[in-house]
Amino acid sequence: MAKLTYHGHSTFSAVTDDGTGIVIDPWFEENPHTELGVGDFAEVDYIFCTHGHSDHFADALPLARKSGATLVSTFEIAMFAGEEGIENVHPMHIGGGFDFPFGRVKMTPALHGGQVHGDESGRWTTVPAGFVFHLDGTSLYHAGDTALLSDMRFLEGMVDIALLPIGDNFTMGPDDAVRALELINPRVVVPIHYDTFDLIAQDTDEFRRKVGNRARVHVMKPGETLELD
Ligand code: NI
Ligand code: MN
Repeated sequence: MAKLTYHGHSTFSAVTDDGTGIVIDPWFEENPHTELGVGDFAEVDYIFCTHGHSDHFADALPLARKSGATLVSTFEIAMFAGEEGIENVHPMHIGGGFDFPFGRVKMTPALHGGQVHGDESGRWTTVPAGFVFHLDGTSLYHAGDTALLSDMRFLEGMVDIALLPIGDNFTMGPDDAVRALELINPRVVVPIHYDTFDLIAQDTDEFRRKVGNRARVHVMKPGETLELD
């Protein structure tokens, strides 16, 4: 079964049974929750980016350069990365899925800002996204940065583990994350995108109480690894 490691904020790495290394929303250098850097992920095969904001994308190009990994993101971010000299890019867009060698990944809608960090020209504004990963029989939803969306109801029955933002201010807060859970109905929810800045400070015990028996709340500490099953 795949192993998923949290690095704080929205950054995760995963290794599948076939040895594929994945990083989602790489943010290391400025991330207060981790001491790791792009040099610690030289074996990565795929980098998935939900959107272009610096706290999800700042280390994507350096990591792609260092590892040679394929950068998977929206068409606009993939084209920008290509212009920046990244050789291996895989453009996708909202609603589309692709059967990667390690499993299927579908890009999902997110409602958020579209700026692409590092794009001085401003030509590559994108639509933010999330992903549903099918990893060794477990489906994992990384919501990205998003508001509560009624479209999340379409994920019902498709998600075992949901990584949902609870930070409020820039994304859903705890109350809307609970409403998202009611639409998606995953077995497990892992709160993300909180406690990184004062603006997104949250109490995970309070979130656990609000979720109640709707799902199992698994609060991952930065550096913690979860076996997906
Ligand atoms: Ni963002
Ligand atoms: Mn963010």
